[in-house]
Amino acid sequence: MLRFPFSDRPRLWGVAVSHYQVEGDDPCDWSEWEAAGRTRGGPCGPAADSWSRYEEDGSLAQAAGANAFRFSISWSRIEPRRGDYALDALDRYRRFALFLKNAGIEPAVTLFHYTHPRWFHAESPWLSPASVDAFARFADVTAGALGDSVRMFIPLNEPLVFLLAGYLDGQIPPGVTSARLVPRVFDHLLAAHAAAAAAIRERVPQAAIGIAHNMMAFAPERRWNPLDRLLARTAHRCYNRGIVEAFATGRWNFLLPPATRMRGRRDDLPASIDFFGVNFYSRLHLRSPGRERIVGDFRYRDRAGRGLTDNGWEIVPEALTPLIDEAAQAGKPLVITENGLADADDRLRPGFLRDHVRAFADDPRVHGYFHWSLLDNYEWLDGFGPRFGLYEVDRTTLERRARPSVAVFRDLGRRYLASSR
Ligand code: FCB
Repeated sequence: MLRFPFSDRPRLWGVAVSHYQVEGDDPCDWSEWEAAGRTRGGPCGPAADSWSRYEEDGSLAQAAGANAFRFSISWSRIEPRRGDYALDALDRYRRFALFLKNAGIEPAVTLFHYTHPRWFHAESPWLSPASVDAFARFADVTAGALGDSVRMFIPLNEPLVFLLAGYLDGQIPPGVTSARLVPRVFDHLLAAHAAAAAAIRERVPQAAIGIAHNMMAFAPERRWNPLDRLLARTAHRCYNRGIVEAFATGRWNFLLPPATRMRGRRDDLPASIDFFGVNFYSRLHLRSPGRERIVGDFRYRDRAGRGLTDNGWEIVPEALTPLIDEAAQAGKPLVITENGLADADDRLRPGFLRDHVRAFADDPRVHGYFHWSLLDNYEWLDGFGPRFGLYEVDRTTLERRARPSVAVFRDLGRRYLASSR
């Protein structure tokens, strides 16, 4: 029997947030970095205080016409000390999930969205197979607590983004810069996904499980230049296709430029997902050799002529279609698990929404859309500067106010949910 799409809810029209970016005061590896002044975007502090306002946020999603809400669980709140589970924190998420369910909104729960408990990197880092067991136990406990109201789970958000930023560039915790270690960490992340999926299935047999994969369009900076073209192709192969292939076949084999061979096999991967999630934002233009990095430079440019977002990302909805084709190679139903833009004035968001929805609305392979984000939040590297919210959050009072795009989102959603295929 197909676990997804759900027969009672064939299409999802949702909003997305992640725990650290909205909850506030979460004692994890990121907040340690924050205290040490290491976070590039400054302190996250109370974020949007969603830890105490989740139900209010759920109501805002409902007012925006959403029938689904993607949020994530803070592992550090659930397991503050290794093996010690905080029942009150589990209960907090349980109440929220139940609130959503009672409001007719499908909760979609992510287990890993970049942050870790403080003990993790010392006691069971991703370099060690112990990480796999630790994550599977966390998945087991969480699915056990939420299983009566949640049937949609995403064990990992953007494993490749985490891998590159956390273990190659060292820009986010744990701040490692080692191409040599990257293949092993990748292997453990995929193993952790599979082990978590198995644990969830034990607890919630009807669960629909997916991966949320960040996909990016790549173009040569100079269209005619063979090196730029080669780098764009290599980037696509590595960044977009590597994970699709891993979930399609249980094997992966690609080059992480300049010289890291990523190769492995895990036979349980294909059956570990019921849907494949695509997080899509923008396109990068590549130049090789680069002026800043020898392998190549990558930049956003306004080639499509729609203007850049507040954080300088190109708006390029037409690039979503070929990435959907690529993701479909995984052989699973697709969901757009994130898509959105930083646009404080809400000038570009209405057109952005319409153009992106047009790219998948009639595509029978795509079964849902989650907009990033419901509300303004803490952006990992840029703090509170970029405003991704359908709802604006006042930085002083943390009060939420609808941007005009809420009405656009609601109208598009009404049409999307009404049209049957
Ligand atoms: C994605 C992340 C999400 C948010 C958006 C803007 O890569 O998953 O948390 O930061 O980018």
